[in-house]
Amino acid sequence: MGRPLIAGNWKMHGTTESALKLATQLSHYRSQENAVEMIVFPPLVHLAVVSVALNESTVRLGAQNVSQYSDGAYTGEVSADMLLDQGCKYVLVGHSERRAAMGESNQLVAEKFKVAQDAGLMPILCVGESLEQRQQDKTLEVVAKQIDAVIELAGLSQVVQAVIAYEPVWAIGTGETATPQQAQQVHRAIRAQLGDAGRSTTLLYGGSVNTSNAAELFSQPDIDGGLVGGASLEAEKFLNIAQLVEA
Ligand code: 13P
Repeated sequence: MGRPLIAGNWKMHGTTESALKLATQLSHYRSQENAVEMIVFPPLVHLAVVSVALNESTVRLGAQNVSQYSDGAYTGEVSADMLLDQGCKYVLVGHSERRAAMGESNQLVAEKFKVAQDAGLMPILCVGESLEQRQQDKTLEVVAKQIDAVIELAGLSQVVQAVIAYEPVWAIGTGETATPQQAQQVHRAIRAQLGDAGRSTTLLYGGSVNTSNAAELFSQPDIDGGLVGGASLEAEKFLNIAQLVEA
């Protein structure tokens, strides 16, 4: 088992006003005995305002993306140091929406992972198969390759200290979720790939997590928490899901 986490990926939604409101509503969150860490991932332009709203809170801040470069003439990019400067502790790398829509390869994801971790951010490495890959029975192979690329560049000892989120592409934003058994099977395979050192690595499930399916998903032995998209945009729903990580 890894450290329990509940993460909200706000994707490209909201305004400064709505981000501030949501962050303020979440800022009072405290899990029993502070056992569960809550993290929110607002759009880059809302990081500063959310950071202020979470200042006195135990809720952590993360970014949805980071440049693979640490500094320089890279128009439109944001470096790991800039994210730290905004108060970020976490960063998502390799989200399937970036892999698919922005053409991020396993190699590029590995580079971003390493740059972020070296700078002092905690990467959440997102992995997952497409529907076609699942239908061809390639799920475990695809996920293993995505993780192997990062192990090759950053080293196993670094990868086990990060967080890995299994998000089957076909379950993201579709309302269709992996069954707890399907998710557990992949999580168990990831844990096996990481070996002994990965026994306490935090493994999250993501893909249409909501208040009605979260309890059963989070009760699986190798699922330590969730990475939530749509349902993290409403404070009450997200707080309810967070409670289910504790249960
Ligand atoms: P949904 O919860 O909206 O399916 O999104 C999941 C996700 O992509 C989180 O990163």
